[in-house]
Amino acid sequence: MVPYGRLEGVLRVVKRDHQRVVALLASLVTQADPILRWEIFDDLRRTLNAHARAERAAFYPLFDSDRLLPSALKADDEHSVIAAITDELAATRPFAASWYELSKQLREQVELHFASEEGALFEAAHTLLPATTLRRVGDQMLQVRRELAPDVTLLTGI
Ligand SMILES: [Fe+2]
Ligand SMILES: [Fe+2]
Repeated sequence: MVPYGRLEGVLRVVKRDHQRVVALLASLVTQADPILRWEIFDDLRRTLNAHARAERAAFYPLFDSDRLLPSALKADDEHSVIAAITDELAATRPFAASWYELSKQLREQVELHFASEEGALFEAAHTLLPATTLRRVGDQMLQVRRELAPDVTLLTGI
């Protein structure tokens, strides 16, 4: 695991998104009020969607010609699993009995996915790529995030 202080450019952008999503997921599964739960979910869904699309556009292509291509493809597939649970939650009322189970499932899948990205992919990018590339791709990723979700709070200061 690359220490937080040594994450540069795109790795810092991805990590900050992950931290935001992890915090939203924790609120999602503990919030007792169904209306607030829905608001948290709505924010989470838009953040996750923008994050996944920005990763596909800017982060995963870094691994195109690398032995890590299968890991990047696997990560991209995991986005579909996460999107399917998110769609199911979107179609469920936040006071329904199945809501809690689904939100727990979502948290589990997302956290597993983040752990694998922050493991092999971060390690390889940190080891193999120059800081200038990481910074350039970080800017690209922020740009895509801005275009996809201008209303989602952007985390800056990379
Ligand atoms: Fe991802
Ligand atoms: Fe990610």
